[in-house]
Amino acid sequence: MSVSRQVGIGIIGAGVISAIYLKNLTTRWPHVKVIGVADILVDRAEARAAEYGVLALSIDGLLVHPEIEIVINLTIPAAHAEVSQQIIAAGKHPYTEKPLAIDLAAGKAVIEAAATAGVRVGDAPDTFLGAGLQTVRKAIVDGLIGTPISFNARMITHGMEDWHPDPFFFYQPGAGPMLDMGPYYVTALTTILGPSASVSSRTTAGFAERLVTAEGPRTGTMVPVNTATHIESVIELESGVIGTLTTSFDLYDPEHSWFMIYGTEGSIRLPDPNTFGGPVKVYTAAREWVELPLVNDIYADDSRGLGVQDMARAILEGGPHRASGALGYHVLEVMLGAIKSGETRETVTIESTVERPAPFLG
Ligand SMILES: NC(=O)c1ccc[n+]([C@@H]2O[C@H](COP(=O)([O-])OP(=O)(O)OC[C@H]3O[C@@H](n4cnc5c(N)ncnc54)[C@H](O)[C@@H]3O)[C@@H](O)[C@H]2O)c1
Repeated sequence: MSVSRQVGIGIIGAGVISAIYLKNLTTRWPHVKVIGVADILVDRAEARAAEYGVLALSIDGLLVHPEIEIVINLTIPAAHAEVSQQIIAAGKHPYTEKPLAIDLAAGKAVIEAAATAGVRVGDAPDTFLGAGLQTVRKAIVDGLIGTPISFNARMITHGMEDWHPDPFFFYQPGAGPMLDMGPYYVTALTTILGPSASVSSRTTAGFAERLVTAEGPRTGTMVPVNTATHIESVIELESGVIGTLTTSFDLYDPEHSWFMIYGTEGSIRLPDPNTFGGPVKVYTAAREWVELPLVNDIYADDSRGLGVQDMARAILEGGPHRASGALGYHVLEVMLGAIKSGETRETVTIESTVERPAPFLG
């Protein structure tokens, strides 16, 4: 795209994930300009600002900064909706890390407030815009596996306390494996195969508390577990495709996390949807795996911020942006539906729907 002007970006939340956003958004896309970063922990904002050559701002200062149009919300999940509402009230476009909110009412309120204020809502993940998942989408559109019938996705890890310095939030309502990692899987499903119609689950928690072993202020402390940490779900898509999704922070199983979509003519093995690259492999009646070339080699590395730059492009050019609040809201409804179904032991009908965003070939 030709750059008519730059869209100013602010970031609230200077924790672990802010580094890759700052790295990419300060170097990769000429139509965005990071102005500054803020955090309730001022030291963190100052450290990140110094590292990436942007301003360290107070939260209030960032919200009134005249050059900032998009504010990226990289706070913890429980703060997402409240911080997004502050951004909207300041007349700026929020782009929030996943999930959009930790309950549906708060997510809906963010979408409605933004509509009233005439601002956009963006929501991570943006990995579905990466070369890997876009290659999968194109392969299915091109008919490589025929008509999709089913999918099977397994996100298995033994939690986050061995690497994240402050893993408390992962085990509270609003996180757990479904709300923390589920967004990558449900967003991939939605953007590749379309929206969900219903979800049915059983849930459990294998541990009542978790020992923090990662280096940091919480090393050696116990984190109470207040949410389901192992969830088995059956999801029915509006298209009639049915499949299963396992999300777990409880299991040791290094080899059996995968994501498959099965069709009438073959199967496709997706890359880890928490990444932007490949490999993407197809298996057909020829009885062999074939690795597909990716649709581009630009967005195969960690390209977090891709959704933000797409939102900035849409602000400049008009038209929809891809990693939208509507997509995030639908994904949130599916994930919360999975947890609710585990509690009620009943199938949950998904009320929202969403159009698949336009393909992004890079
Ligand atoms: N760490 C990862 O690898 C990763 C990857 C993808 C997405 N995410 C998502 O990014 C978000 C942040 O994760 P993280 O790992 O960077 O967490 P983190 O705990 O390292 O950082 C969160 C930061 O937000 C700040 N904060 C909390 N509440 C705030 C508020 N009300 N106002 C201003 N600042 C506030 C905290 O002080 C902290 O510095 C989460 O939603 C997470 O799911 C993280």
